[in-house]
Amino acid sequence: MAHNIILTGFMATGKSAVGQLVAERLGRELVDMDALIELQAGKTIARIFSEEGEAAFRQREAALCAEQSQRQGLVISTGGGALVNPDNRAVMMQSGVVVCLSAHADEILRRLRSMPPGERPLLDVPDPRAEIERLLQSRRAAYSAMDWQVDTTELTIDQAAERVIEIASEQTSSTLPVHH
Ligand code: S3P
Repeated sequence: MAHNIILTGFMATGKSAVGQLVAERLGRELVDMDALIELQAGKTIARIFSEEGEAAFRQREAALCAEQSQRQGLVISTGGGALVNPDNRAVMMQSGVVVCLSAHADEILRRLRSMPPGERPLLDVPDPRAEIERLLQSRRAAYSAMDWQVDTTELTIDQAAERVIEIASEQTSSTLPVHH
């Protein structure tokens, strides 16, 4: 069975949209972790944060990483903070190809402004720009630990998806057993 293709990276770098397209093109099942957490909890991420706190959300996230990394042949879009946790990172890196999407802070802010407000509790602060910079800085080491990086600042969703497919297929063909 095929290894998983896992997308990580900061908020608004394209994980969900790119994941959806990659899954469609490769005929794979998509697991969008945030959507699954909302489904299981019966409430939005914003409500989980406000009613249960961030720690409870992180626990749900860790449980899902442990569970989904045991499956195969998936495209998994993680939430932007999921693989900052080293345990989550380790299980996901063992289960397949982890691609980290990135974008410049200005572009992240621009994309977030065009999305419905109130969906990203971490940026529901007086100065989201400063918070983006602060979070990017504190997560820099975690994100750069991923084997593959795709900067989506100048890419369309389609182009980013093609790049991810390219990485995943190179990765798979180079690890296929050689038959004599
Ligand atoms: C988070 C990113 C969000 C969501 C939650 C926390 C983060 O997902 O999981 O709001 O810590 O970066 P997206 O990256 O899909 O916005």
